[in-house]
Amino acid sequence: MSKARTRESLVQIAIDGPVAAGKGTVARILAERLGWLYVDTGAMYRAAALLARRAGVSFEDSKAIASLVDRSHFEMRNPTDTERDGRLTTLVVDGEDVSWKIRTEEFSRGASMVAAHQEVRRSLVEKQQKIATLHNVVMEGRDITFRVLPKAQLKIFLTASEEERAKRRHHQLIERGVDADYNTVLDDLRTRDWRDSERGTDPLHIVEDAWVFDTTGMKISEVVERILDKVRPIISGSNN
Ligand code: DC
Repeated sequence: MSKARTRESLVQIAIDGPVAAGKGTVARILAERLGWLYVDTGAMYRAAALLARRAGVSFEDSKAIASLVDRSHFEMRNPTDTERDGRLTTLVVDGEDVSWKIRTEEFSRGASMVAAHQEVRRSLVEKQQKIATLHNVVMEGRDITFRVLPKAQLKIFLTASEEERAKRRHHQLIERGVDADYNTVLDDLRTRDWRDSERGTDPLHIVEDAWVFDTTGMKISEVVERILDKVRPIISGSNN
């Protein structure tokens, strides 16, 4: 379905939602079905935390982290054939593939801390908006529908009940061989949701023109089909 498009006719699907709502899995499959780029903005916040840690900079030092991000080159791509090792996306920072290095508890927490800083957000949002000027994108995060891509043709607030999200995250960790306790996962999820929706800069919220899609009890394939039903008319409209 992808073909060369002018900047004006590029299509953007923006997905926001709380922790473990299935945004990544759904966005990745959608992007694959459409032949578009999947942009995992959470990975970029994780990479900012990684840059800070490596530079010996505190997660509280907003200016220093923003400056590290400004000076770094981020490349996000759908995994190539040789990169299909279970990852949803490939993130290369200054030539280094950090896709797996950022998937630790340390950088989950670190990302949530660095994401609270206005300067860091400004710097990452700029990079994300640039990507969307070059590709059709399915972009997901916590501020995509109202900050990064406020003109997206489709805005989705993807959610599910707290228990279901905790169960999904717990299951995912066990599958990865992590010895996770359900109640700890639930507590951690609540803390991160709280931080996302209470932070001073661009807190996660539902915009007026977003489609609130509660996926509790649904299979991923069903979720994807329901979204594709909304995307198809947009694509045919943008081809006219
Ligand atoms: O989706 P994730 O767990 O990989 O995101 C990591 C952290 O980054 C999470 O605490 C929320 C934050 N984040 C954000 O503030 N804005 C985004 N657009 C994406 C993620």
